[in-house]
Amino acid sequence: TRPIRIAPSILSADFARLGEEVRAVDAAGADWIHCDVMDGHFVPNITFGPDVLKAIRPHTQKFFDVHLMIAPVDPYVEAFAKAGADLISFHVEAGPHPHRTIQAIKAQGKQAGLVLNPGTPAGAVEALIADVDLILLMTVNPGFGGQSFIRSVVEKVSQVKALIGDRPVTLEIDGGVTPETAPLVVKAGADTLVAGSAVFKGGPSAYAGNIDAIRKAA
Ligand code: DX5
Ligand code: ZN
Repeated sequence: TRPIRIAPSILSADFARLGEEVRAVDAAGADWIHCDVMDGHFVPNITFGPDVLKAIRPHTQKFFDVHLMIAPVDPYVEAFAKAGADLISFHVEAGPHPHRTIQAIKAQGKQAGLVLNPGTPAGAVEALIADVDLILLMTVNPGFGGQSFIRSVVEKVSQVKALIGDRPVTLEIDGGVTPETAPLVVKAGADTLVAGSAVFKGGPSAYAGNIDAIRKAA
């Protein structure tokens, strides 16, 4: 079986203790740290920007998977790159020039990821797939943690997996991932799972068990 990567979303962490929370999920076995950036415009919620990312960067050496739910994207790419992102993903729905955004991310020396909302068809990645490192399929409508997994997206996971073929492109899932839903998307071809509420529930002493439960179920 393929190794599955678990990327805890710090959206569900205690924001008053963010540095400690990042250390805690690192120690608990997180593979990546997923950072959800929301602007109150592209999505109906506001989280944090590059300065917060920069503040938590010294607390772990883990890969920073930065999920931008903002529009426009391009004016902020450099700031997130300099703040310590390893990979920057953005929504194909965020603007008319996604390929330009990929170029801007690559120009910063960072990996680029393309994100699709639940209502956007698999074909939206086709023309861009050769130029990205990751495709992220949302299994909730972006904006909030703790929402229910949208099952109809599982079919799209298989479709995008087929489009990826043997390219070295990561296929990531975000939203409502739990030990119950993880196997559905892994079976369809996902290799990286974001989980917020399912990792952070129960506080720091539960993180290792929560991460393990998702990994084992997947
Ligand atoms: C949703 C965010 C997700 C969210 C996942 O807009 O992009 O990363 O934090 O949270 P859960 O795992 O609780 O659905
Ligand atoms: Zn996310």
